[in-house]
Amino acid sequence: MYPLVLAVTGASAQQLAERALLLLLQKNFNIHLILSRGAYEVWSSELGIKVPLDPSQQEDFWRNRLSVTNGELKCHKWNDHSSIIASGSYATSGMVIVPCTMGTIGRIASGFSLNLIERCADVHLKEKRPLILSPRESPFSLIHLQNLTRLSEAGATICPPIPGWYSNPKNLDEMIDFIVIRLFDTLGESLAPLNRWTGPN
Ligand SMILES: Cc1cc2nc3c(=O)[nH]c(=O)nc-3n(C[C@H](O)[C@H](O)[C@H](O)COP(=O)(O)O)c2cc1C
Repeated sequence: MYPLVLAVTGASAQQLAERALLLLLQKNFNIHLILSRGAYEVWSSELGIKVPLDPSQQEDFWRNRLSVTNGELKCHKWNDHSSIIASGSYATSGMVIVPCTMGTIGRIASGFSLNLIERCADVHLKEKRPLILSPRESPFSLIHLQNLTRLSEAGATICPPIPGWYSNPKNLDEMIDFIVIRLFDTLGESLAPLNRWTGPN
């Protein structure tokens, strides 16, 4: 299978990205990881964690933090437009942006590829490859909704981080798991068993 691009932008809920990375590596995926400039800020201000800015230090950082040795991980800097994943000639199986800010949504929707994440998303749309976006904002403005509609019409899947209450999550970790596993479900990938709706008791 081709590698998968996992992008993380500066919205609340970085825990979703961290959980996704862990489950993907545990399942031996080959991952290209990009954090936007804003994502580093949210890691720092919301969680008090300094993620190394230098991508060459990031693989060790994530592997130590997540205690995972499986899979392949290549980390990219948000402004590295010469990266292999910036080109449509590099084959991937898809791209997931979780969590996704309204800024990134707006820039992708207008074809404004300022950073590597936006360029990669643009490539996935033009190459008609899966692009899964998990927008985190509340409430949505009309501009947010119009941008999301535009991206859906262009072929992206809009999968906001909304839990299925029928899964009866006991704690935040179970809720995060449900959201992340459901997100990759839309890509046809089963990262772990999902507590699916089986009808009323
Ligand atoms: C702690 C914190 C939480 C944020 N949460 C959100 C959010 O949930 N959704 C959003 O669209 N922007 C959020 N922002 C604002 C973005 O980080 C900011 O607009 C940034 O420029 C987005 O850049 P990016 O899309 O390249 O990551 C947050 C910022 C901070 C510092």
